[in-house]
Amino acid sequence: MALTVKAPRGTADVLPENAHKWRYIEDEARGVAVLYGFSEVRFPTFEHTELFERGVGGTTDVVQKEMYTFLDKGGRSVTLRPEGTASTVRLVIEHALFGGPMPLRLYYIGSCFRYEKPQAGRLREFCQFGAEVFGAPLPAADAEVIAMVDMLFSRLGISQHVRLEINSIGCRGCRGQYLALLREYFNERAGGLCRTCLERLERNPLRLLDCKEEGCRTVNAGAPLPAEHLCGECAAHFDGVKERLNALGIAYTVNGRIVRGLDYYTKTVFEFISDAIGAQSAVCAGGRYDGLTEELGGPALTGLGFAMGLERVLLLMEKTGAPFPEPPRCDVYLATVGEAASKRAQAIAGSLRKAGLCAQCDITGRSLKAQMKYADKLGARYTVVLGDDELAAGRASLKRMDTGESVTVGLGSLADEIKRMG
Ligand code: HAM
Repeated sequence: MALTVKAPRGTADVLPENAHKWRYIEDEARGVAVLYGFSEVRFPTFEHTELFERGVGGTTDVVQKEMYTFLDKGGRSVTLRPEGTASTVRLVIEHALFGGPMPLRLYYIGSCFRYEKPQAGRLREFCQFGAEVFGAPLPAADAEVIAMVDMLFSRLGISQHVRLEINSIGCRGCRGQYLALLREYFNERAGGLCRTCLERLERNPLRLLDCKEEGCRTVNAGAPLPAEHLCGECAAHFDGVKERLNALGIAYTVNGRIVRGLDYYTKTVFEFISDAIGAQSAVCAGGRYDGLTEELGGPALTGLGFAMGLERVLLLMEKTGAPFPEPPRCDVYLATVGEAASKRAQAIAGSLRKAGLCAQCDITGRSLKAQMKYADKLGARYTVVLGDDELAAGRASLKRMDTGESVTVGLGSLADEIKRMG
């Protein structure tokens, strides 16, 4: 027997032994989002390609190289979402959510798709937990979303393995002048740049700042940095963010080379980095994108947010031994001998489930010995054996598997007895 069709490269199955870990991380993320007053949104897995071309930006790697774009049967170009911000902005505009209470706080959890070279922590389908805030222009909002990430990492037990790096890349106003300066700097040193950087020099010179190539890093070392060329308002905003983070006791370093790979950012950008998960070290990233709602045809609304890759969060938790809750297990297994007992056991299992217990009974007609072996493999906490004698007496023996202790219990009181015994 050989499987002929395997899961596509860059995708990952979640198996039963890991699914509870995923649920735990997602539940904690939702819990923290609710504590911060965020409401959940869900948007389509695919959108019109134009949304990402305009929203994420035509010069980005995501749009140029990584999107899963195809024509549907109606000949329209659609794209599997590579991220959630553009979709959230579209949703806000399309449903006029800006007409409700502001600021608007929204969060989402869902798959994103990018055609990247798979490696540890980098997949082609990955899951993001993201949050976006609209209509909050002050530094307090930047600090608020960062604090939310900080709280989630602390609840997941990984705070000590993650560091926060922040930067400001200015607004559209101050960036023009700065980019001209940056282009001039790199043009004068073009001989030392890699091919990708040379290509990016005209379209997106900011990205040259975070090139990892050895030669480019040398050239980079003396490059003017965006945070050194901010206009008065952007500089004051950046100071305000730092002040708020200090007031909240959230540790950070300013990394003047964080520029982010998506076009919509303005002012604050940030990344939560971990050294424990290999090259794909950004566990969470985000920033401000004032102006994006207008670009996508909506009203002038400031926006900011973050997204974290949940595979990377899980990887980090596993690598650093962060605690996970126990996976759910079978509370009671009802083993049976004979058809009458099997029927009755299925009814009893139903009432045990109504009482909130995980109950299983035999549905394969196998021998008592095989059933007990199965109960053992499941790690059932209790077992009950039901045969004709037990049915006639209306009582059976309830066995606690870890201690071997047994008690005789009325068939109607199994749930109460299990709860009493703990
Ligand atoms: P991003 O930096 O492209 O930003 O992605 C955010 C996070 O998603 C990354 O830090 C990483 O944890 C995870 N991630 C990205 N690509 C992959 C991949 N191929 N495999 C596994 N995980 C990955 C955004 O997507 C922005 N929308 C974030 C944002 C929200 N900014 C403002 N609001």
